[in-house]
Amino acid sequence: MGSDQSMKWRTGGALTALCLAASMLAHGAAGAADASAMPYLKHKDGRYALMVDGEPFTLLGVQAHNSSNYPEALKQVWPAVDDVHANTLEIPVAWEQIEPVEGRLDFSYVDTLVQQARAHQVRLVLLWFGTWKNTHAQYTPEWVKFDSKRFPRMLDKNGKSIYCLSPFGEETLKADRKAFVALMTHLKEIDASQHTVIMVQVENEVGTFGQPRDYGLKAQALFKQRVPQAVLAHKKSPVAGAATGTWSEVYGPYADEYFHAWAFASYIEEIAKAGRAVYDLPMYVNNALRDPSEPLAPWNNNFSAGGPTYDVIDIYRAVAPHLDLVAPDFYMKESNKVTANIDRFQRPDNPLLVPEMANSADMARYIYQILGRGSLGVAPFGVDYADYTNFPLGSQLTDRRMSEPYARVFAVFRPMQRLWATWALENRTHGVAEGEDRKPQTIMLKNWKATVSYRLWQLGDEGWLSTIKEQPPGTETPSGGVAIAQIADNEFIVVGQHARVKFDTAGANAGKPSMYGRVEEGYFDANGKWVMMRNWNGDQVDSDLNLTGNPVVLKVKLGTY
Ligand code: DGJ
Repeated sequence: MGSDQSMKWRTGGALTALCLAASMLAHGAAGAADASAMPYLKHKDGRYALMVDGEPFTLLGVQAHNSSNYPEALKQVWPAVDDVHANTLEIPVAWEQIEPVEGRLDFSYVDTLVQQARAHQVRLVLLWFGTWKNTHAQYTPEWVKFDSKRFPRMLDKNGKSIYCLSPFGEETLKADRKAFVALMTHLKEIDASQHTVIMVQVENEVGTFGQPRDYGLKAQALFKQRVPQAVLAHKKSPVAGAATGTWSEVYGPYADEYFHAWAFASYIEEIAKAGRAVYDLPMYVNNALRDPSEPLAPWNNNFSAGGPTYDVIDIYRAVAPHLDLVAPDFYMKESNKVTANIDRFQRPDNPLLVPEMANSADMARYIYQILGRGSLGVAPFGVDYADYTNFPLGSQLTDRRMSEPYARVFAVFRPMQRLWATWALENRTHGVAEGEDRKPQTIMLKNWKATVSYRLWQLGDEGWLSTIKEQPPGTETPSGGVAIAQIADNEFIVVGQHARVKFDTAGANAGKPSMYGRVEEGYFDANGKWVMMRNWNGDQVDSDLNLTGNPVVLKVKLGTY
């Protein structure tokens, strides 16, 4: 980033700080609308809102690195959380740390975490690293890790034990559930009146690499049984098969994977159900995605079998009603894959939430698309200042240069996050991100159409600009994104970066000439009231609405004549 850009950011930063302070007073961790209300998911006509303190809440999150879950390590977490203007921190609570000795529970880290989150006016999503973390047993206590008799591993086809704990381990389930219930009981004790913790992820990226299911004794016996009715009712077979019968009869070549998904979903349901019985927070599972651009085919060692990938969402929804949703983790960076994953995971029966996303700068543009599409929230992964980079999955950087692209985007959303979540619930929001083809995109709105173009200077039509060799700074690689909320028939909130937005008439307005009434740049204050800073006119709208690398919020009024 050039010095010029960074100066602009610093200048904008003072204003942003003002807006944020105002918004946090009304909508922060303390002093909000109805702090006694439990967080929950509200559903309206196939759209969802995460309700926090009785009001819709957009989760502008960051996820800490895997090993940042210790009081000392938190010192490297909070500065990044604050820099990014996140309103939520997603962070692990590991089974090994709360129950290092069986039956002896230690919640000192959880207590510190919750207290510090309150001091930073940030909410928490706790990630329960229990039986499985990325399919491994690595976060189980040592008394679990090394007792394969009591806590059995899965078996391969030759009866040899593999690395992954079996989802049929009865003692494993009992012990994990007991620890999880203890955690939820403790959370109720320390947080029921404040709801600093707003959601819990149960396990992390479950499934198994290397084989499609467990071949242990119990698994083999169950695999030969009939498919449970709940699964049959929800999951249609992708290939022709029997309407009822054994897994192989019904699901043919998909039987192994679907059986394994059923095993994991059933196990996790037991844990979520028991946890929610003591303290009823929203819960979800995340997953390492299978490639959405490949044609659907039976598992072929190409993703972690049994995890909640898009083709088995139905199985998880069928057998795990105590999970609110199945969430995708975005590490596939291509825009067609991001779009395909949003399309597959956002369903009337499965609210969209992106709890992890690579933290490299190129991914920041997708926040506009994700939030525009009505996601409950989004969180780049590994946003803390521990000296660790998960490149090539994420950024090579571990300092403010890593967090800054996200800070810019969150800074514009945070003051209006409650409003945005309300508009998303009402199906008023839309979003796009620049594709690798750099081509314009269209957003269809009620009686209007927005065209979003990229790599244009702020003045001049496309013909003129095509003769100019220089490209606007910061657009060397795809970096644009735009989110629009239609807040009234002819009124829009536009937020974005590195993009040009042009409105045309459509629907009932089609064919009528139109023009801007007002294009106000500003922000929403602590009471949700719009504060105008200036009105864009003249040069600033002659070539439509041109957003640079410094995101702004525009309130646009259009009219026909
Ligand atoms: C996805 C996992 O859920 C995270 O915990 C982390 O391991 C990332 N992958 C990779 O850094």
